[in-house]
Amino acid sequence: LPDIAWVNGRFSPLEQAYVSVQDRGFQFGDAVYEVLRAYDGRIFAVDRHVDRLRRSCRLIRLQAARIIECLSDLLAEALHRSEYTDAILYAQITRGVARRSHRIPAGLQPTCVLTVRSIEETYKLEQANGVTVIGLSDIRWARGEIKSTNLLASVLLKQRAAEEGAFEAVLFNGRDELTEGASTNVFIVTAGRLRTPALSERILAGVTRQVLLELAEKAGIPVSQETITCGEVVAADEMFLASTSIEVLPAVVMDGRPIGAGRPGPITRHLQQLYQRAVRNWPS
Ligand SMILES: Cc1ncc(COP(=O)(O)O)c(C=O)c1O
Repeated sequence: LPDIAWVNGRFSPLEQAYVSVQDRGFQFGDAVYEVLRAYDGRIFAVDRHVDRLRRSCRLIRLQAARIIECLSDLLAEALHRSEYTDAILYAQITRGVARRSHRIPAGLQPTCVLTVRSIEETYKLEQANGVTVIGLSDIRWARGEIKSTNLLASVLLKQRAAEEGAFEAVLFNGRDELTEGASTNVFIVTAGRLRTPALSERILAGVTRQVLLELAEKAGIPVSQETITCGEVVAADEMFLASTSIEVLPAVVMDGRPIGAGRPGPITRHLQQLYQRAVRNWPS
């Protein structure tokens, strides 16, 4: 398979791509990343992903303006070289290579890694039938708005969900309010209104989330970004998860109890269709 990588200026087959063991991304998770998707040879919403990466860099005070400026072109070139038309693209910028010390040494050169991989899982069955989720307490750090590679809490939450037969861990803060999924944003529908938690330091401003909010507004679906309690999630008519890789995925059972009718609802279905149309007709 033509899975490829680009590391600090050099393209190679993915399995031949390496970074130093002294890289701060490896040592500390001192790094930020993006996951993007290409449909029909075009990278979906690449500008929004690049903007978010720039913001993540700013929030961790990682200076990588030069590489971020070229990123959109580099991703396009990487996709072209891979010869995939549909693919998952990954971009990671780390603080760079240095002798291990928590303090950030001056003058580091950031490490930049891009990869292009085939899409192994399209989640078509899950999108059609819906998935099971479990509610867990949000044990991640307080800056979920930063798309950092520090993903240990998410890994453990996702593993716990998988061991309980659930697709995703839906997370609640100490006040029993919905934050997001371990790797997805969460939406519910209550009496015809599409609802999702308002953006804060605690949750990632998902590109899919934002696109869906815009599509819903255009389609005349009432939308709120607000605090949502665990009780409101349990009582919702519909629930779905959203991200670049899973797109729009109905969640039909939470903690063993059906959400609404226990099958994908009409607003979820409508948004799935709008989203599929949008990713293929996105203005470049
Ligand atoms: C914690 C978290 N929330 C939300 C998302 C969805 O973001 P996006 O729609 O930009 O893929 C992700 C994506 O991986 C994520 O890791």
